[in-house]
Amino acid sequence: MKNFFSVEDVINVYDLIKEAIDLKNNPYKFYHIGKNKTIGLVFFNPSLRTRISCQKAAFNLGCNIWVLNIHKDSWKIEMNDGNIMKSTQEHLKEAISVMSLYCDIMAVRTFPNLIDRDYDYKEVIFNKILTYSKIPVINMESATLHPLQSLADVMTIVECSPFFLNNNKKKCKVVLSWAPHIKPLPQSVANSFVQWISKIKEIDLTITFPEKYDLSKKFSNGIYTTYNQEEAFLNADFIYAKNWSSYIHYGKILCHSTDWMITKNKMKLTNNAKFMHCLPVRRNMVVEDSVLDSPSSIILKQAENRIYSSQIIFLKILQSLS
Ligand code: CP
Repeated sequence: MKNFFSVEDVINVYDLIKEAIDLKNNPYKFYHIGKNKTIGLVFFNPSLRTRISCQKAAFNLGCNIWVLNIHKDSWKIEMNDGNIMKSTQEHLKEAISVMSLYCDIMAVRTFPNLIDRDYDYKEVIFNKILTYSKIPVINMESATLHPLQSLADVMTIVECSPFFLNNNKKKCKVVLSWAPHIKPLPQSVANSFVQWISKIKEIDLTITFPEKYDLSKKFSNGIYTTYNQEEAFLNADFIYAKNWSSYIHYGKILCHSTDWMITKNKMKLTNNAKFMHCLPVRRNMVVEDSVLDSPSSIILKQAENRIYSSQIIFLKILQSLS
C-alpha cells in the first residue's frame, strides 16, 4: 500500500478486517518493523481519538512518532495558491514538503470548508498534500472521507455480529441514521461508512435522514434510503447514528427538529440492535443517555478498534517500505 486515502486503496476488505482483528489479539507481533521509522501526525483540525489511537498504534509497531497541531503549534498555513501572503506565514507546499523530510509516513487530518462543495468533493487540499509529500500519506479524515474510522466501524460490526461469527447465511441489517446537531458537520463519516459497508455482501444497509439530507450519489447510489426513521429501525441489528450537514444545500442545517434523536423507545423497534457512534457525541441531542449507557451501546469498542484500524494501515505501508 503506497498511500491510504479511502477503501479503494484496499485490495480485500475482508482480509484487512481479519488482519486487524489478529493484531488486536497480538498487538506487538510486528513490534520490530518500526525500528528507526518515524510517523508524523499532522492535524489541521482537533482530535481526541484519532490522535491518541494513532500514537498507540505506532507504539505497538515500535515506531517513533511526532504530532503537530497546525495553526496552534505551527506557523499559520496558506492553503491557496497565488495569494499575496499577508496574513499567513507559510505555504502548504513548503510545510508538507518539509514535514515529509522528517518522517517515513505522514498522516493528515484536514476538514472541509463546507462552503464550496466542488472544492471539498474534489479533495483539493488532500490532493495537494499527496502532491507535495515525498513519502506515503494516510487520511486521518479529509473533506469527504474518514476511512480509519470506517475500518474500525466495520471491524466492530464483524466482531459483534453473530451473522459473521456463526457463518450464518442470514444478512445483517445496518441502519445509518441522521441525528440532530447544533453545528454544521461534514458528511465524511457517513460517506466513508457507506463506502466501506458496501464492500461487505453480508450487510444490508439502510440510510435514514430528513428531506434534503441525501448524501452524494457517488456514495449512496443503489442503497435503500428513507425519510421514515422508525420504518428504518424495524428489525435493525445495528444503528449507527451520525449528524451531517446538507449535501444538497451544501453545509447548511435544514432540520432543527429534535424528533430525529435516537431514543430508548426507537431502539425498541429494532432487533435488539447495537448502538454505534464514532464520537465525540453530544448527549441528549444526538442520542439519549439511556441508549448510550445501555448494554447495547458499543461506542467504546468502536473507539478501541481505532487503534487496530490505524495499526493495520501503518503496518501495510511499513511493509511496502521495506
Ligand atoms: N471519531 C473521531 O475521529 O474522533 P476524533 O475527532 O476525536 O479524532
